[in-house]
Amino acid sequence: MSAVVVVGSQWGDEGKGKVTDFLARKADLIVRYQGGSNAGHTVVDGDKKFMLHLIPSGILYPDKVCVIGNGVVLDLELLLEEIDRLEKQGVDTSNLRISSRAHILMPYHKRLDELQELGCRQLGTTKRGIGPAYADKIERVGFRMIDALDPDFPNRFQAVVREKNRVLQTVYGDPGYDYEELLNRVQGCMDRLRKYVVDTSILVNNAINEGKRVLLEGAQGTLLDIDHGTYPYVTSSHPTAGGACVGAGVGPTRIARVLGVVKAYTTRVGEGPFPTELTNEVGDYIRARGAEFGTTTGRPRRCGWLDAVILRYATRLNGLTDLAVTKLDVLDDFDRIKICVAYKHKGKIIEEFPESLRVLKDCEPVYVEVEGWKSGLDGCKTYEDLPLKAQRYVEKISELTGVPVSLVAVGPKRQQTVVLKEIF
Ligand code: IMP
Repeated sequence: MSAVVVVGSQWGDEGKGKVTDFLARKADLIVRYQGGSNAGHTVVDGDKKFMLHLIPSGILYPDKVCVIGNGVVLDLELLLEEIDRLEKQGVDTSNLRISSRAHILMPYHKRLDELQELGCRQLGTTKRGIGPAYADKIERVGFRMIDALDPDFPNRFQAVVREKNRVLQTVYGDPGYDYEELLNRVQGCMDRLRKYVVDTSILVNNAINEGKRVLLEGAQGTLLDIDHGTYPYVTSSHPTAGGACVGAGVGPTRIARVLGVVKAYTTRVGEGPFPTELTNEVGDYIRARGAEFGTTTGRPRRCGWLDAVILRYATRLNGLTDLAVTKLDVLDDFDRIKICVAYKHKGKIIEEFPESLRVLKDCEPVYVEVEGWKSGLDGCKTYEDLPLKAQRYVEKISELTGVPVSLVAVGPKRQQTVVLKEIF
């Protein structure tokens, strides 16, 4: 049994793409289990930079099977663009498999997402149609990949498009969609994608049974989880480890380890409270040094110090067994670095992440300060190569969460990864 889940421990953008890509070198099967093209993973290999939104980062290795699980919502046109782009960059995508149960994210989902952001919702979504696609899945008016291959698809699709048009036209004053044109678009995509479509739960479970190494790759982060995140400023799926079981079709007993990816500081995109946010030159410096701009939307990310209250929450919700600390090099130049260890709310100390956004908004971070290491980390290959003060920062994270650190990323390149303990 060797399935490992990789989850984001903060608000997403922790560097899961890089960590998954690094672990993928030893994995046999890499599975995306939730989210959609709202995710943006950047992988740098030598001079080559790859942007991935839907396809698991493992695709960059020719011998790995890469699975898009049933929990993902799939924008077919974007997926085909991604396949074409990778092929142009010399990446073989023939080992891609797509769950027959994955839901299709339709053009009207994207339009509705944009329109809802102009209305009463205003969450700062990626406008990739994620919320409306998951809403239709729950409403049971969505279409899975297998449904789009069914002979009865045109009839069911026509009925749904008719209803979507009524909503678009009457509620939003939008022209809506021509059904025939939309049907042609979907069927055109399915003609190219059908060769990838299988029951991926069988594939993943068989791989586990055969003792293969399976990596379940989360998108977004713990605080964007629809149940456990900072609702309503969340995404519409479960980026937490529990989501990996549902979204990949495996039982919880098959998961051996859960690796939480922790960025050495905190960032957030979109609206919502953020206790350690730095709306000053320190935050601006981190944004510039860490290239903290959305891979999907290009939006500047809000930046702040590391928050151990969030990390303890992520440890509990995901049952983290290991941590991967990323972007440590972004903090190279600081004399002193702050870590939030608790919140102060109306004079009282809070140690658990609050469920009320009003409380969270009024929380002041309680900081401890550690000394910065003031030297470049990019050449470090082993843990011992890290300056002692950088090691101390890593150890502090482990001490505050009670979880061992297994990997440290000291730069964007695949090679700039320090291994403390092998995951596979
Ligand atoms: P949605 O997932 O597009 O519906 O957006 C909901 C919230 O999740 C917004 O605040 C987005 O900025 C945030 N979000 C979605 N995907 C990501 C991601 O991959 N990284 C960081 N934030 C994300």
